[in-house]
Amino acid sequence: MRTIDWVNGAVEIIDQTALPGEERVLRLHTVGELIAAIQSLAVRGAPALGVAGAFGVALAARIHVDDPAALAVAVQKVETARPTAVNLARGAQRAAALIPRGPEAVLAEACAVRDEEIAASAAMARLGADLVDELCGAPPRLLTHCNTGALAAVTVGTALGVVGELHQRGRLAGVIASETRPLLQGARLTSWELTRWGIEHRVAVDSAGPFLMARGEVDAVILGADRICANGDVINKIGTYSHALGARRAGIPFVVVAPESTVDHDTPSGAHVEIEDRGAAEVTAWGEAVNLAFDITPFDLVTAIVTDRRVIRVDRGEKP
Ligand code: MRU
Repeated sequence: MRTIDWVNGAVEIIDQTALPGEERVLRLHTVGELIAAIQSLAVRGAPALGVAGAFGVALAARIHVDDPAALAVAVQKVETARPTAVNLARGAQRAAALIPRGPEAVLAEACAVRDEEIAASAAMARLGADLVDELCGAPPRLLTHCNTGALAAVTVGTALGVVGELHQRGRLAGVIASETRPLLQGARLTSWELTRWGIEHRVAVDSAGPFLMARGEVDAVILGADRICANGDVINKIGTYSHALGARRAGIPFVVVAPESTVDHDTPSGAHVEIEDRGAAEVTAWGEAVNLAFDITPFDLVTAIVTDRRVIRVDRGEKP
């Protein structure tokens, strides 16, 4: 299953806002439609956003082939559709670098971004499963947060790919998916993907995670990232930081899985990252809200970061 792809001149995505109730494919023909899909979270997750950004520029390059000014505006709108995941701007910029060679070259580069994420998923699954096996010894009971499966990464996924690989190896003892307020990426999307894998699991409210760890019901936390800073700080879905604190208190590994395309060497630490505030409507109908979509987990709470090329033992002082 490819959850985002280029099909006959348009971008096709699985509409993540409709899951798990309905498996609906959206065909996006314009940059405006693509940006709306990104902002409504019909397509979401850092690696998938990188591919969406690249395909968005491919759309723009075709539509504005004779209008460089309009094309530049469209590229900028794609790059900035959401601020936090580094992949979106990166994917868009990679494709945009090919604009001087024409729309077909731009599309070829966008397809390369997609293909690299597909390859990265497979590599992370293997490396991550090896690491979790080594850290935990016995088949672990894992807690994961938000959605890091194929929906977030074209195929397979990041942290959820590791969960799937452990399951296939017969080295998984249980999964808790934290629900991920306010848009329920865990309860809706991760649960849907785990069911497709045939992996038994339970959903927990976000605030239960640290207590479940304290009660000895979790052997390791494994989740993804939207940006990994040069010092090892991890930007990920709101709620990640409290799970990291819970893991530290419980003395269990806290493992982050993300492709190299999410590692941002140009951003020194989490303090330099814009954290998206998605407004009150997702949280409450009765007044004002603070709705930060992401948080910053300081590197010293992270055991290891697994990318498609390496394992960074942050707990041993290694940096991305
Ligand atoms: O707001 P979202 O759903 O795009 O945020 C995505 C996440 O934060 C995920 O947790 C994920 O770890 C990063 S992408 C694999």
